[in-house]
Order: sequence, then structure tokens, then C-alpha cells
Amino acid sequence: MRLRVRPIRRLEGRVTVPGDKSISHRAALFGALASSTTEVSGFLEAEDCLRTLTAVQALGAEVSRTAPGRYRIAGAGLHGLREPDNVIDCGNSGTTARLLMGLLAGQPFWTVMTGDESLRRRPMGRVADPLRDMGVTVVGRAEGTKLPLAIRGADSVKAVAYASPMASAQVKSAVLLAGLYADSPVSVTQPALSRDHTERMLRQFGVQVTESGLTATVTPGPLSGTVVAVPGDMSSAAFVLVAGLIVPEARVTVEDVGVNPTRTGLLDVLEAMGARIGRQTPGAGAEGGEPWASLTVTSGALRGAAVGGVLIPRLIDEVPVLAVAALVSAGRTVISDASELRVKESDRIAAIARQLGRMGARIEERADGMVIEGGTKLRGAHVESGGDHRMAMALAVAGLIADGETVIEDAACVATSFPRFAETVNRLAGETAVTVDS
Ligand code: S3P
Repeated sequence: MRLRVRPIRRLEGRVTVPGDKSISHRAALFGALASSTTEVSGFLEAEDCLRTLTAVQALGAEVSRTAPGRYRIAGAGLHGLREPDNVIDCGNSGTTARLLMGLLAGQPFWTVMTGDESLRRRPMGRVADPLRDMGVTVVGRAEGTKLPLAIRGADSVKAVAYASPMASAQVKSAVLLAGLYADSPVSVTQPALSRDHTERMLRQFGVQVTESGLTATVTPGPLSGTVVAVPGDMSSAAFVLVAGLIVPEARVTVEDVGVNPTRTGLLDVLEAMGARIGRQTPGAGAEGGEPWASLTVTSGALRGAAVGGVLIPRLIDEVPVLAVAALVSAGRTVISDASELRVKESDRIAAIARQLGRMGARIEERADGMVIEGGTKLRGAHVESGGDHRMAMALAVAGLIADGETVIEDAACVATSFPRFAETVNRLAGETAVTVDS
């Protein structure tokens, strides 16, 4: 499937975006571990999160869909899951694979996991290593660091105080999930704060989790079912918000977006670049440990910025679309400390430089980021997503302000996180700006 994108002059209106991917995964996994029923609304019905639902079903949790985006999960309890009778395919989803490894740490049976071509390239040693320290057996390809992997939970999980070399919420979450099965509290300390949805949601399920500085600590114990209302995904809203800043005549509101401070780095950077972003806190929805807001942007001039350090984990998934904003800003934008981008769904540093380069961008790749020359007039081109959903959508946003048509190949991956992306943009544009071409 390919997307064809035409330049537009106007973008106006109010939209919602699909449910938060990170929060949806966690609702499915924690619901499966709870000893009673969990009701989830706003669940992201896109490929990645559906993989997690299928995985917990394979492990014995009962899942029923009660309405669009609404699921009832009858948890099996901490010790009630059973050995799956087939390989669990995590598809494209790193969060499914890594958080599931944490959950499996406490299951005294074998599970075999795999993923698609992209996920089989991505590093799993970062999770397998601390889990091995906790007594879990993980074997598989590349010395047990790449999928397919087979994992057997420990009969008794050893408590650890894990100092993670990277600010990864997936690593942190896997260790905390394993910690639910330990005989004393388990803590994870990271070099910078990463998204804390796991900590917040485990508390919602009745588990004692404390956060102090860069350390999160879980006290082992059971989960009781709860109600989870999933807010809109900041990482999907990002495409609409950046489009609303760079299309010449634009005023766009994205309603009911999760604005957890560990996820709002893009808003801070865009504001530092000169963007005006209005935040209205909604009356509804805000329950459940996660803050929500409606966000309004108006197009206007932007200037380049330096983006690095502790900001990076707060906007890691938004870098492809931030690069598009940087291209049309005055001056230079330097992104550093972001080498993690090289091990996402694609090598996003290389992909951003190469694909946006085809549209006329001047981007210098660095090992841990890039230097983006602003003031660029983009031209429509034939580009490739490389099977990476966020690259496909960032390129589409660039196409909205380029001269001529942009064709994005291999764009079916958009369904990983934002199945109605084209429809959403077209509604705001009041015309067919993005065509899905199969
Ligand atoms: C996620 C954490 C981040 C992020 C990913 C989702 C999560 O990955 O990039 O899209 O839900 O915990 P890392 O933990 O690898 O930084």
C-alpha cells in the first residue's frame, strides 16, 4: 500500500486521535494478571496492541470486546496463566515483546516468542539480561538477545535493584513486572526519566509502586481488576499538531490527549521553537492516573532548537515529525543523545536523513542524532517508509507542505498505531490531501 499526499493550504477543525499505544498494551497485560475483571475503554485497536491482546489470550486470559475500543479482560491472577500451545508472534511491536518477557518472568513454564522482520532485528538483551539476574531462563538467537526467544519463568524470582544503562520504559516495565513475583521489593534506576505509565497503572491495579527521582520500586503483590480509560496518544497527536503548525492557514485542536509529563517533550520543544499551543483540561476522562488535555495549535513561524539530554526519552517517538517541523524553521536544529533512534522500528536517524533528503532536506546524520538545516523548501518525491509507521506519517506531514505530489511506499504500517490517519488529515483539510493507494 502507498500513500499519495498533495500539498494543502488549510487545516482546520477538531479531531480525536486513537488511544495511547503504551497505555493500551499495559491495560491488556496487567488486566491478564489481575485476579478479577478489568474494563478498558479507548483501547487502541491497531496492530501492535491487538498483538498484546492475542498474546494474553494465548496465555489463558479471557478477553471480550464489548464495543469498539472497549474490552473486558477476565484476568487469570498472578499465578493462573498457562503455557501457550504455540509461538507468540509479537508482530512489529517492541512493547509487546519486552513487556511480555517481564510478565513471563514469573510464569514457571516455557513460552516461545517471535516477531516480524523488523522486530527480529531489534535488541532484546536489554530485557533478557536483568531477567536472567532475577533467575529467569532466556535462550534464543544471537546468544539469547534477539527474537525468536524461548523464556521460562523462575520458580522463585530473585529481587534486584537494577541500574539500567538506558532510559527505556520497556526495560523498566519488564523488570517491574518480574518484580511482582519476587520475594522482596524490586527497584529500577534509569539515567533519565522514561514514561511512567507502568508505575501509574500498577498503582491503579492496587500494587504498591513508588517513584523517587530516577528510581521506581515495586512491592510484590497481587493485582485487582480495575477500570482503565485510555487517553488519545500523544505520539499520534504529534503528526496532527505539527501539521497544524506548518500548513500555512491552520488552526487545529486534538481532543483528549494524554499529557503525562514523561510524554510531552515535543510540546516543550515546539513551544521553545516559537509554537503557540493551547491546553484545555477536559472535564471528562481524566480519571485513571493519567492526565488528559485538548491541545490547540495555530500555524506560525518556528525557529530551530537544540534538543538533547533528558528531553530525549520524553519525545523519542516524535523525532521523525519533529524533524519535519525543524526543516521549515528558521535556523538549525541539532538533535543529540538520541542513538536509541537507531534501534526503533527502523534506524530512524538514517531513515529521516535519507527519505526527507529525497524531498530536498539538508540533514546531517550523526551517531546519536542529526543536524537539520531549517528554511528548506520541500519538494514532493517518491519516498519509502521502510515499514516504519512513524516514518510513513512524518513523510506524509512533510508532503502536506511540499511542492507537488509525495508518494510514500510501504505505508500499510500506518495501521500499527494510527489506522485512520489519512481520514483524520483529510477531514481537517476539507479535501483529499492523503490518498490510500493499494
Ligand atoms: C514504549 C517505550 C519506548 C517507546 C515505545 C513505547 C513503552 O521505547 O519508544 O514506542 O510503551 O514503554 P523504549 O523503552 O525502548 O525507549
